Amino acid sequence: MAYKVLVLKGDGIGPEVVGEALQVLKVVTREAAVDIEFKEGVAGGHALDLHGTPLPDSVLAQAKEADAILLGAVGGPKWDDPRADKRPEQALLTLRKELGLFANVRPVKAFRETAIASPLKPEIINDVDLVVIRELTGGIYYGQPSERREGKHGREAVDTCVYTEAEISRVLRFAFEMARERRKRLTSVDKANILATSRLWREIATQISAEFPDVKFENQLVDAMSMHLIRRPRDFDVIVTENMFGDILTDEASVLAGSMGLLPSASLGEELNSAGFRVGLYEPIHGSAPDIAGRDEANPLAAILSAAMLLDYSLGLKAEAELILQAVEAVLRDGYRTRDLGGGPGARVIGCKAMGRTVRERIESLQPGA
Ligand code: IPM
Ligand code: MG
Repeated sequence: MAYKVLVLKGDGIGPEVVGEALQVLKVVTREAAVDIEFKEGVAGGHALDLHGTPLPDSVLAQAKEADAILLGAVGGPKWDDPRADKRPEQALLTLRKELGLFANVRPVKAFRETAIASPLKPEIINDVDLVVIRELTGGIYYGQPSERREGKHGREAVDTCVYTEAEISRVLRFAFEMARERRKRLTSVDKANILATSRLWREIATQISAEFPDVKFENQLVDAMSMHLIRRPRDFDVIVTENMFGDILTDEASVLAGSMGLLPSASLGEELNSAGFRVGLYEPIHGSAPDIAGRDEANPLAAILSAAMLLDYSLGLKAEAELILQAVEAVLRDGYRTRDLGGGPGARVIGCKAMGRTVRERIESLQPGA
């Protein structure tokens, strides 16, 4: 039997970085005991141009059939009209919701080799190793009403933040379980001094913490947390938060790693796939970077590391995932850098394609029997 992986390259630098990651997946699983069938689909602005919708029904159907999905990025200035009723980002929101991918896992690891690319001092970021679990299918991203309208005093707009107990507790349990597997520390982030949804979140988090006495648990307010995250990032292990706070905090957290171009993510649901693991959507946390699209300058490492998470979380191919990580670390150690990672002593700045190829060559030399 073959596992099905759906590849959605998307817009901007998406096709470049996912192209490299896809080749990495093929090389690293060549000797694996399972077959993987890769299918490609369209999503985002590109799909909007071709089919008039950011996510054609046929692609959604393919996504529902897949064991895992690898995605690049969606969006770009071409589709940025704020009055447009169809936007590339809707492809992502629909996929997340329709596949029930409520837990977005965003690991942030500071490689010593790329610390130079961060504006933060090495003594702050060295050895940072944390994971942000962002709730992904609720909150203000999905609450209704969400609209612009004519009010008594002219134009007005409304968004709604709503969370149910079930939504809050499933992502918190997921985060507690993950903390248990790691350094046993969990920080839940909210804005309980202002928001009703946050007060419910904090109440449930505190209740569930009693079921995990081995995990050291704390609550933090999101404004304070945004400061702690860059002042003392090493104090954190697993951080769990609601949808929009997680969106914002993970961009901030990327500064710890040196570049957005290094950060992968996994979005997971409760449903199990034909391999018996969680169905997941894997994507770099960076966007479509239209300014550098098509110039072979993008950093494919976030996409490549996302592919590693795909093998690990959705297909159970841990050894292969580990091989990718080792190869990426080795390549960075050897001084290879894409432009976003800056120079530094001994750095060799290369393009997107060359970075992908260098990682693949390293995988081949690390592969058993090489
Ligand atoms: C992310 C992105 C998306 C989000 C956008 C592209 C819809 O910023 O995955 O962090 O806001 O969730
Ligand atoms: Mg974001």
